[in-house]
Amino acid sequence: MPVVEVVRGDITSEDVDAVVTAANESLLGGGGVDGAIHSAAGPRLAQAGAALAPCDPGDAVATPAFDLDPPIRHVIHTVGPVWEGGGYGEADVLASCYRRSLEVADEIGARSVAFPAIATGVYGFPADQAAKIAISTIRATPTTVERVRLVAFDDATSELLTAALQD
Ligand code: APR
Repeated sequence: MPVVEVVRGDITSEDVDAVVTAANESLLGGGGVDGAIHSAAGPRLAQAGAALAPCDPGDAVATPAFDLDPPIRHVIHTVGPVWEGGGYGEADVLASCYRRSLEVADEIGARSVAFPAIATGVYGFPADQAAKIAISTIRATPTTVERVRLVAFDDATSELLTAALQD
């Protein structure tokens, strides 16, 4: 099981082999963390994503990281669930995002991976529930990843992730 840590900051400056982006099915980039990663990686990221699109909610695919600073070599694109009240399998789709991202990380040989708080921004997933799903899924997924960093972009998310990690 990987070492899991919560950090507060910008995922584009993480010191890891792969960063996960909270994408949409087109993999062409958008706002939020996806916008930040695409902006830092440059236009080749959207071209590589388009070649693999569409990516279903809960699935994940890897591309090179292009202009993102080393040591980041890979971007793992995953598509979170749009929150519709919790009765439409959203929790299972979010768990699948973390599970599939780790499986893809194993396929590309990434030993360290940084995740944003997938689906908790534009897609509206309640951050407290999402934090618990992230931690429990990472802990339950067999993987050769040795280090997972959960990158919080705000204090509230950081506190929720830290609390979930201590459960
Ligand atoms: N580093 C780390 N985390 C970030 C960054 C950043 N630079 N920018 C934003 N975040 C955080 C947000 O604060 C939120 O906690 O990422 C989390 C996920 O929010 P979104 O980026 O809005 O992702 P999501 O809710 O999954 O919505 C995805 O938004 O940007 C579009 O193309 C994307 O259509 C897709 C949708």
